[in-house]
Amino acid sequence: MGAQGFFLAVEGIDGSGKSGIVRSLAAHLGAEGRDVLVTREPGGTPEGEAIRGLVLAGADEAWDPMAELLLMTAARVQHVRRVIAPALAQGRVVISDRYAGSTLAYQGTGRGLSEDFIRTLHAEATGDLWPDLTLVLDLEAGVGLARSRRRLTGETLDEGRFESLDLAFHERIRAAFLAQAARDPGRHAVIDASGTPEEVQARACAALAPFLAQAPV
Ligand SMILES: Nc1ncnc2c1ncn2[C@@H]1O[C@H](COP(=O)(O)OP(=O)(O)OP(=O)(O)O)[C@@H](O)[C@H]1O
Ligand SMILES: [Mg+2]
Repeated sequence: MGAQGFFLAVEGIDGSGKSGIVRSLAAHLGAEGRDVLVTREPGGTPEGEAIRGLVLAGADEAWDPMAELLLMTAARVQHVRRVIAPALAQGRVVISDRYAGSTLAYQGTGRGLSEDFIRTLHAEATGDLWPDLTLVLDLEAGVGLARSRRRLTGETLDEGRFESLDLAFHERIRAAFLAQAARDPGRHAVIDASGTPEEVQARACAALAPFLAQAPV
């Protein structure tokens, strides 16, 4: 946990609006005078971005699930040790677009690896760093996929790998995020991600406010 700063992760299925919410929350908190660092997973460091390219550019299931987990974890080690932990030590607000919850959902629930193993690996790899708050953007999988398809039209499809998997898969991922929130409700907030971006943003701000009010930032 961020002993000094505040660590916020935004999770949810593809197309649930994570990247948009990360941008608008960062703008909102910055306007309040907070020192905000925006980052993402997989990625957040040059090494992590290279790993992102490797993992997301492959065909569906090109990587063995265990290999994929270890690549994601390698990227996270660089990210936590070189970016997230130092920023928290400086008292900053770190907002990460996806974090370990995505590993539990995609490599655990999605690809069948043991959740206990993923949690143990995470603990060893990161010093068991979990967000102070994870916002779960909750949305029907079909709505998320439709949003993603619109976004990807006209763009290169290199990051469309996870989105080409089927609807049932994405509903399982959605349920996995909800289960994570239910397991640790004190550090999660489930946000209804349907409606306009402004509506979702207002819900996210309302959920975040009491946590920030308690935080040393
Ligand atoms: N509330 C909303 N209503 C309609 N469209 C939205 C809404 N929020 C985001 N979008 C659009 O849906 C698409 C996906 O949003 P965004 O990229 O923020 O989602 P994401 O969760 O980051 O997706 P991914 O997991 O693929 O990175 C974008 O084109 C975005 O403009
Ligand atoms: Mg995104």
